[in-house]
Amino acid sequence: MDEEYDVIVLGTGLTECILSGLLSVDGKKVLHMDRNDYYGGDSASLNLTQLYRKFRPDESAPTKLGRDRDYNIDLIPKFIFASGELTKILVHTEVTRYLEFKQIAGSFVYRDGKISKVPSTEIEAVKSPLMGLFEKRRAKKFFEFLQSWKDDDPATHQGIDLDKDSMKVVYEKFGLEPGTQDFIGHAMALYLDDDYITKAARPTYDRIILYTSSMTRYGKSPYIYPLYGLGELPQSFARLSAIYGGTYMLDKPIDEIVTDEDGKFVSVRSGEETVKAKQVIGDPSYFGAGKESDGGKVRVLEEGKVIRAICLLNHPIPGTDDSDSCQIIIPQNQVGRRNDIYVAVVSSTHNVCAKDVYVAIVSTIVETNNPQAEIEPGLKLLGPVFDKFVSVSPLYTPTSTGKADNIFITRSYDATSHFETVVEEVHDVWRRVTGHDLVLKAREAANIEEGRDEAP
Ligand SMILES: *[C@@H]1O[C@H](CO)[C@@H](O)[C@H](O)[C@H]1NC(C)=O
Repeated sequence: MDEEYDVIVLGTGLTECILSGLLSVDGKKVLHMDRNDYYGGDSASLNLTQLYRKFRPDESAPTKLGRDRDYNIDLIPKFIFASGELTKILVHTEVTRYLEFKQIAGSFVYRDGKISKVPSTEIEAVKSPLMGLFEKRRAKKFFEFLQSWKDDDPATHQGIDLDKDSMKVVYEKFGLEPGTQDFIGHAMALYLDDDYITKAARPTYDRIILYTSSMTRYGKSPYIYPLYGLGELPQSFARLSAIYGGTYMLDKPIDEIVTDEDGKFVSVRSGEETVKAKQVIGDPSYFGAGKESDGGKVRVLEEGKVIRAICLLNHPIPGTDDSDSCQIIIPQNQVGRRNDIYVAVVSSTHNVCAKDVYVAIVSTIVETNNPQAEIEPGLKLLGPVFDKFVSVSPLYTPTSTGKADNIFITRSYDATSHFETVVEEVHDVWRRVTGHDLVLKAREAANIEEGRDEAP
């Protein structure tokens, strides 16, 4: 392999695959390698054999779980906002042609010991058990205010300046109770903690509008999900890259990142083979994450670690109307934490497990020395759990932009329940690698809209 590439990409997680797809489309010569024999890296979806190999190398999957090939278990639980940034990239690149989507059937929030649907419109707010009569009227006024806001029409502002006034000021203007603020800030704006309240209201406004506009798109929840699991996403971008001449190699141990005397990137060595390129992009695991000898290229973020518990159940989640899928958010205030707990549920409807099996992933940012105990409030909502696979993953971030050494490292997948931050990361790395902004043209979302049966 003495061919020279523009970019070598290490790891086939979603971030890396979107980047290699977009770079290939942009005319770059891309070589993409992964140490695993499957696509997806940390954001892969695994079959039962792979799941057991990863979590319990000494055991094989119990036969009562059904056929291996029915399983595509996500390692990182996230849903796609129907009107979000990932959808825009999927549509722009026409990667939608490789994918089919289903709606996520419901979005729930935990309050005072039980779960309820997240109201996302004035009409739903009026029916919601989450609020008393007078609070409903106040919430209705709040949602009407948001929906009718126009930047260039001061008459719609009601004395509020979204860029100067904090969210606290907005909540107070409408007199919303703390419990209502909890579901708005955490189940709609999807903040992981309460820091947003004292900051300018604009980003919270944007997030609520993203939620409500995604919600109105298909009706049941703001989220869509690819059939056969999230691992389909990186694979689809890999196909895009391949169409534009990108080369993919799986099952390749990466033994060395070779640099010159100035520390600048030269090549990647795998066994006896060395491949040169101008730049290298990769996930933190290829640059010393978790090892002593990391050379300081990555560090663990202040938020620290995320705990994720993949739970296999043989029943739907109690209190969700037997939904085949849903998101449940436990706002931190409700359980005396600093960070929210998320539950993401999918099932055989999404071709990710055998019939009558439900896959629920409970996750949160670790705050104590006993992370297992921290997810207890989430596990309690599930009812009996057939089997459980728990991981605690540090969140890594690069220590430099990569411009000096042509080594561009991506961040670990965070604790958010959606892909918006993954897309932010793609934009950021793109800017670092190419020196200019990634511009996506919006096209009609035809393929997603059509879908099949009740699909979005
Ligand atoms: C499950 O994964 C293993 C390991 O990657 C693979 O060899 C096997 O073919 C897969 N099973 C099915 C049914 O796809």
